[in-house]
Amino acid sequence: MSTTTEGLEGVIVGDSSICSVSEPNGGHLLYRGYAIEDLVHAASFEEIAYLLLYGELPSLNALKQYQHKLITERSLPDTLKKVLELTPGTTHPMDVLRTACSFLGALEPETSSNGAQNIADRLLACIPSMLLYWYHFHQHGKRISTESTEETIAGYFLDLLYQHTPPDDFRQTFNVSLILYAEHEFTASTFAARITTSTQSDFYSAIVSAIGTLRGPLHGGANEAAMKLIQQFKTPDEAEKKVKEMLAQKIKIMGFGHRVYKISDPRSALIKACSKQLSTQSKDGYLYAVSERIERVMWDEKKLFPNLDFYSATAYHFCGIPTFLFTPIFVLSRVTGWSAHILEQRAHNRLIRPESHYIGPGKRKFVPVEQRKG
Ligand code: COA
Repeated sequence: MSTTTEGLEGVIVGDSSICSVSEPNGGHLLYRGYAIEDLVHAASFEEIAYLLLYGELPSLNALKQYQHKLITERSLPDTLKKVLELTPGTTHPMDVLRTACSFLGALEPETSSNGAQNIADRLLACIPSMLLYWYHFHQHGKRISTESTEETIAGYFLDLLYQHTPPDDFRQTFNVSLILYAEHEFTASTFAARITTSTQSDFYSAIVSAIGTLRGPLHGGANEAAMKLIQQFKTPDEAEKKVKEMLAQKIKIMGFGHRVYKISDPRSALIKACSKQLSTQSKDGYLYAVSERIERVMWDEKKLFPNLDFYSATAYHFCGIPTFLFTPIFVLSRVTGWSAHILEQRAHNRLIRPESHYIGPGKRKFVPVEQRKG
């Protein structure tokens, strides 16, 4: 007799040395053995990308070379720019990234001379260019230049977005958020990338599978959904009343709960601190107090805690980032984790092919179409 584990909860489906997620007395998250609390304020996102992709933290020299490589990989082929121009401005930007990554795979396919590690670096470098070229073309009728000597990915993204140098505290918050979003073991999108990889498909196909999987509100789309909720309220009392009503109607509050963590998400406190600090200078800083009240209600009513997406929403909002770009930002960070998992899956590959528990009709006799009733 077969049994089913709904949603694969608690099922260990493979070994990995990239990241560990655990829950002894609250959540813990290590990237290749390093606690995220030690990384967020001391490291740049590029160091973390290097750690995830190459296995160890870079030396100063290796970091400089890596940053230089990423700067040179930012530009977009003209035909890809054309595709971005032809993609409607009303398209969800996750669909834009899914299309653009797929199209880049047609222009610069994986070959013996353009290997997996190269493609990982190329995507990391040029996903911000894809997203913001499309954004400025359709929002402002402008063909922006994606050339820049800015060293960090956080600075590059914000530079392109605002079309001027970002304030330091925005850049720091963005760097923290990119580090926190970079990797989280066998999430749904990472698992999708590993499944695609396990069929010996190409690198881009695995990334496109992951982007499509991340898009949903139960996964990466939660930060956008959280912002839309928070923004509805002018006061914490208003938020408390509405959230209680939603809970009574069994409506999920996006940005809360987690499949693995049961007491707290270790990333939440780190991004919450950024949101709090930015709220003090923002014209709608009251949204931070609204968020804190929602957090309290969720704990009191459901013993549910905020995950990374909840306070990322207001942190990005206080940086002036449009809400519809929140989930694509997740992509530009998580492409590092996905890429590391694709490389790891390839190194020890076995086709991922689980089984289902069949609950349909038993064996029955086929009746030709002309003899069927009705
Ligand atoms: N708001 C309200 N109730 C929630 C909830 C939320 N965000 N998350 C879980 N619950 C409740 C469910 O309604 C369910 O209650 P019930 O037993 O009374 O029916 C119970 O908690 C278990 O939820 P379930 O969805 O089965 O847990 P899961 O392990 O499958 O889900 C998530 C994990 C992350 C999908 C879930 O917590 C969720 O949907 N969160 C909101 C989306 C989100 O923030 N995603 C980003 C994750 S990093």
